[in-house]
Amino acid sequence: MYATDDLRNEHEGIKVALGVLGRLADDAEAGQSLDIDDVDQIVDFLRTFADKCHHGKEEDLLFPALERAGIPREGGPIGVMLDDHVQGRKYIAAMADALPGLRSDSPAASAAFADGARGYAELLTAHIFKENNVLFPMAEQYLTPNQHEELAEGFEEIEEQRIGPGVHEAYHALLDRVEEKYLS
Ligand SMILES: [Fe+2]
Ligand SMILES: [Fe+2]
Repeated sequence: MYATDDLRNEHEGIKVALGVLGRLADDAEAGQSLDIDDVDQIVDFLRTFADKCHHGKEEDLLFPALERAGIPREGGPIGVMLDDHVQGRKYIAAMADALPGLRSDSPAASAAFADGARGYAELLTAHIFKENNVLFPMAEQYLTPNQHEELAEGFEEIEEQRIGPGVHEAYHALLDRVEEKYLS
């Protein structure tokens, strides 16, 4: 059991949201009006679950543990992952900024949302691939079982502090609902 198992599972949930973003971007580009409540909830999921909680676990605990194990932050995969997280926040902000305009069916807001959604989905798809196939295997190789256990405990604390009890389940229910609505 690796601490990275938890992060890999979260990646699967995030990938569902990325698929939905792709569909919403298609709809926006086709000139269809979007279900704004869904957009709002997905942006909240990305901001809270994907960024604050999931990226928080990586930035506050996993990456520092890897640095302590001798993997340099600069010039290697950790630096690349951090840059991706920063870029991802910009796309989330762009989608959130487009929300008021989407409510009033503004074509400019629709185009801005589609750009942000596509940019985010492409960035995070590649990011998750790099973590799953490059960075996490390093963590699985370099960190001891004890370190994995400590990380897993720390991840639980971050989850309680940043998203709160029960909210994880609510996000999974959201993912199930939008997967059914947009991807089936
Ligand atoms: Fe990440
Ligand atoms: Fe990740």
